[in-house]
Amino acid sequence: MTAIPVLIDCDPGHDDAIALLLALASPELEVLGVTTVAGNQTLEKTTANAIRVLEFVERGDVPVAAGADRPLLRDLFVAAHVHGETGLDGPKLPPPRAAPVSEHAVDFLASRLMGAASPVTLVPLGPLTNIALLLARYPDAVASVERVVLMGGSIGVGNVTPAAEFNIWADPEAAARVLDSGLDVTMVGLDVTHRALLMSDDAERLRAAGRVGRMVAELYDFFHRYHERTYGFGGSPIHDALAVAQVIRPELLHTEHRHIAIECGSELTRGRTVVDLWKRTGIEPNAHAAVEVDAEAFIRLLLERLSSFG
Ligand code: BDR
Ligand code: CA
Repeated sequence: MTAIPVLIDCDPGHDDAIALLLALASPELEVLGVTTVAGNQTLEKTTANAIRVLEFVERGDVPVAAGADRPLLRDLFVAAHVHGETGLDGPKLPPPRAAPVSEHAVDFLASRLMGAASPVTLVPLGPLTNIALLLARYPDAVASVERVVLMGGSIGVGNVTPAAEFNIWADPEAAARVLDSGLDVTMVGLDVTHRALLMSDDAERLRAAGRVGRMVAELYDFFHRYHERTYGFGGSPIHDALAVAQVIRPELLHTEHRHIAIECGSELTRGRTVVDLWKRTGIEPNAHAAVEVDAEAFIRLLLERLSSFG
């Protein structure tokens, strides 16, 4: 089996951290590098968190490159109310030992893409600022992108506003550029992530599965409190891990090839992903929108892989 080369752009973030662990524990993927963006917390914190997670599982060999410290046009708004002051509140992770590489994330992505032996899958798990900048600065790198599997958006309701999901709302202009890029984009949105919850029983199994499982259970404890308070959920979505899981096992999600437009004008509906589910516009599809999820199989995969660290 040849592993799928991936570059993960993220803003850890509880679910980003779990997504990174899932990717590292999966032989189907080869993680070429991790890039960070401001989103759930400031760039400084999301970068430190990415390195802390990699070092916790002794994968400091995976390069981390720091990218954009704010959205293209909008003010930075961090999700401390969801992820805490550190961006990764809950477990006691040691501070990072290493520093990120000296290249900016956008240059790093371009060099890894153009140097890759085969096309690479981009997995953006935060605001799409770095990816939009990559498209603008290195249009030739696009030829080396196999596809983009992003966590963000929603056909239905939002989570940061009634209309919009956080990653797209945070930098709607960047999201619009990615959706209009002509790349093969898969949108893993709230429609599926909110239907594939990690439950407290699952967290208890992880807690008993060694130090990495225990750390993930502690992430869950903090993250779950927010979802219980806000939505009355009995568990917690692990949004970003579902996007990684789709690369490992595409059959976990059912997608529809549709046109997705991003609302950049209105403040009321800023960042809404307007998905033409019923093909009302006649506009050619530009993305695969996830509409159904095999939640049981996803949680099984997640538990199996996270427990494998021992
Ligand atoms: C997305 O926003 C962030 O808070 C999470 O990390 C995830 O990427 C969910 O809306
Ligand atoms: Ca994220």
